[in-house]
Amino acid sequence: MDAASSPHAFSSDLLIREAREADLPAIVAIYNASIPGGWSTADTRPIAVADRLAWFRAFDPRRRPIWVAEFQGEVVATTYLSSFYQGRPAYDATAEISVYVAPQQQRRGIGRRLKQWVISQCPRFGVTTLLSFYFDHNLATRRLNAELGFETVGHLRDIAVVQGQSRGLLIAALRIPPPTLQPTPPAKVPAETTADATAKPAAAADQPLTWPHLA
Ligand SMILES: CC(C)(COP(=O)(O)OP(=O)(O)OC[C@H]1O[C@@H](n2cnc3c(N)ncnc32)[C@H](O)[C@@H]1OP(=O)(O)O)[C@@H](O)C(=O)NCCC(=O)NCCS
Repeated sequence: MDAASSPHAFSSDLLIREAREADLPAIVAIYNASIPGGWSTADTRPIAVADRLAWFRAFDPRRRPIWVAEFQGEVVATTYLSSFYQGRPAYDATAEISVYVAPQQQRRGIGRRLKQWVISQCPRFGVTTLLSFYFDHNLATRRLNAELGFETVGHLRDIAVVQGQSRGLLIAALRIPPPTLQPTPPAKVPAETTADATAKPAAAADQPLTWPHLA
């Protein structure tokens, strides 16, 4: 384990580290606990640990890792990166983020810290576009993404039925500059070229999407 992937303690109480296979029961329990709420997953019934073993083993600490957060020695949350579009190579620099916090530990800042952690790690994995897919009634994720600089790029309305209700899927994206492409201050424009008041500002599509200032 190199320095960048070593356990990361945000405080003396919360530790983020790579997940081990022994964490799988806790990861599955946290995931299953999110199902009854109907906010976060398209699964409608609890899944079994054995059914997640192959899924867990497919994570790759060098490209698509899975982490857990420990609070007072107990696994209370998990986050992971998944490849986009079945991992087709053209999308290598794009990954999806997922975050699950145990219900009794929610709204204590853990989800925010995990997402900030993953964003900070993306350059290490060559990820320059981070996607978040979530139901349109998942207010917590919507707010958290907005706070971290994600831009909503798609809304598939009425695409799922969750607990008998028709729900939509929001797609949010965060552009993360690769290490060699740090943001630069805008170049100074010579005075004579500023006189043209009719000049249009650069099109929004030419501008990089924002990314958050990480704590
Ligand atoms: C979404 C989730 C990861 C957020 O994690 P969390 O630790 O509870 O969230 P945080 O305490 O870090 O909150 C960060 C911000 O998110 C928003 N938020 C979190 N929970 C919220 C809620 N229940 N209602 C409204 N906004 C909420 C708030 O803006 C909050 O900031 P604030 O507390 O300063 O107001 C967590 O609720 C969860 O695991 N939910 C079930 C699984 C899920 O929906 N995962 C996302 C899809 S992969």
